[in-house]
Amino acid sequence: MTKPPEQIETERLLLRKPRMEDAPDVFDGWARHPEVTRFLTWRPHESVKQTEELMRRSIAAWDGETNFRYLLEIKESGALAGMIELRLESAPFKVSFGYTGAYAQWGKGYMTEAARACIQWAFGQPGVYRVYATVDVENIPSQRVLEKAGMQREGLLRRESLHPNISPEPRDCYMYAIVK
Ligand SMILES: CC(C)(COP(=O)(O)OP(=O)(O)OC[C@H]1O[C@@H](n2cnc3c(N)ncnc32)[C@H](O)[C@@H]1OP(=O)(O)O)[C@@H](O)C(=O)NCCC(=O)NCCS
Repeated sequence: MTKPPEQIETERLLLRKPRMEDAPDVFDGWARHPEVTRFLTWRPHESVKQTEELMRRSIAAWDGETNFRYLLEIKESGALAGMIELRLESAPFKVSFGYTGAYAQWGKGYMTEAARACIQWAFGQPGVYRVYATVDVENIPSQRVLEKAGMQREGLLRRESLHPNISPEPRDCYMYAIVK
């Protein structure tokens, strides 16, 4: 499958490849935040060094074929609204994504805008028929984002994912998808 472009523009956002110098803003904006990381697979970062490592891995992954993380830069202010990761699956007909929003920017529709842009890119690729995401059953804001982006809840995945900030046991998740 074609690699996604390094930048995608939406009405209010520039989705762009991360840079090392973004690390302090990513750390302050969401990586260190217990509320933001609550339903995620990783623990809040304790120092900006961990976020620098995340940036390093995110940048290096752009040389690969599967994981493409974008920072959401708000065009008007230059502030970061979060991060979204496009994942190209080994089966070439499907694409998935996951995201994290900057706490100060929640509720302004930014992640829905970014998710729609990723779906639009994916369905612009010949041969892509399915875009999906999974979400913890208690993560209501994220379920809203997926619904607003036009995805449908397809079912319950029991004991699907470890979310260590809420429980040491694997959690149930919903599968959301949109198809063409
Ligand atoms: C999920 C997340 C990225 C949403 O980002 P966002 O930019 O605020 O998204 P939007 O503004 O487009 O939409 C958020 C929706 O959740 C709703 N919402 C926010 N907090 C809520 C709450 N406590 N209970 C119920 N709904 C809530 C908002 O009202 C909005 O829905 P609406 O448009 O119907 O009113 C953000 O909440 C986040 O970073 N969460 C933590 C990380 C995470 O869970 N990532 C996803 C893992 S699957």
